[in-house]
Amino acid sequence: MKKVFITARLPGNSVELLKREFHVDVFPEERPATRNELLKGAKDAHGLITMLFDKVDRILIDSCQKLCVISNCAVGTENIDIPYATKKRIFVTNTPGVLTETTADLAWALILSVSRRVVEGDTFVRDGKFIGWRPSLLLGVNVYGKTLGIYGMGRIGTAVSRRAKGFDMQVIYHNRRRNEEVEREIRAKYVDFPTLLRESDFLVITAPLNEESRGRFGIEEFRKMKRTAVIVNVGRGQIIKEKELAFALKEGIIWGAGLDVYEREPIVEEGLLNLKNAVLIPHLGSATEETRTKMADIAIENVILALSGNIPKNLVNPKVLRENKKS
Ligand code: DGY
Repeated sequence: MKKVFITARLPGNSVELLKREFHVDVFPEERPATRNELLKGAKDAHGLITMLFDKVDRILIDSCQKLCVISNCAVGTENIDIPYATKKRIFVTNTPGVLTETTADLAWALILSVSRRVVEGDTFVRDGKFIGWRPSLLLGVNVYGKTLGIYGMGRIGTAVSRRAKGFDMQVIYHNRRRNEEVEREIRAKYVDFPTLLRESDFLVITAPLNEESRGRFGIEEFRKMKRTAVIVNVGRGQIIKEKELAFALKEGIIWGAGLDVYEREPIVEEGLLNLKNAVLIPHLGSATEETRTKMADIAIENVILALSGNIPKNLVNPKVLRENKKS
């Protein structure tokens, strides 16, 4: 019987489907597996269902002699050495599409909670400090009618921008390439990077991590932004230099930040932890019951297809098909 190793307990019932045809081992703890636990669990597996925090590198791939498919339960696949997996004729799959709207909702949760100081307000009430309405209590900044800047106008950036219509916002964006379809649909304006920094009241990062986006936001960039600007990151943590962000927030160079992802996840820059103008949440972009269940269903379906001799639906490395033909 073929074996599948799942590195975390998944929501939904699809695991039961998998168990009908394969021997399934699930890493049982409510924490990421250590390197040794991962190597041990994956050793004889024909299929792996991995999470973003599992490093699937050459060493791991080489230690799994029977591996046919690595199914990442995420859209991002930066935790996997895809060229090497392809060379080894292993399918790599992801779970695209289903988390777009959910992540866009979360970007808005961060925009609103930073601008209206929701977390501070909650703490204030719980601490028994609310003794009556005061004209200057926890003043925030308006969202309505402002300029929303998007760094990385892909699927999630577009979904964030659509929601801005209800707030009567002007949308500007910066991408590697212009996205004219989105410009027509949501009347977003393409701008160069300096203009994005200069004009955004709310700058939302929805870009993937690549050579261009890595470390793109540091102190130089924060200094070019409005002092009243809020930066939100639901893309990838390494796009922001976190130490420099903490400095900018502390010194009032920008007004606030909402972060769902971190440069050295799950470690969070210490300088951010005491700042009231930063709202910090633990990578919850896709974290709704519905969406995480859909992601699990897709990840499992990809494994079932691959291990039953079919081409999985969400193949990230289609080049593997050419490698397979060669053999
Ligand atoms: C992804 O799928 O890449 C997300 O960051 C997980 O929430």
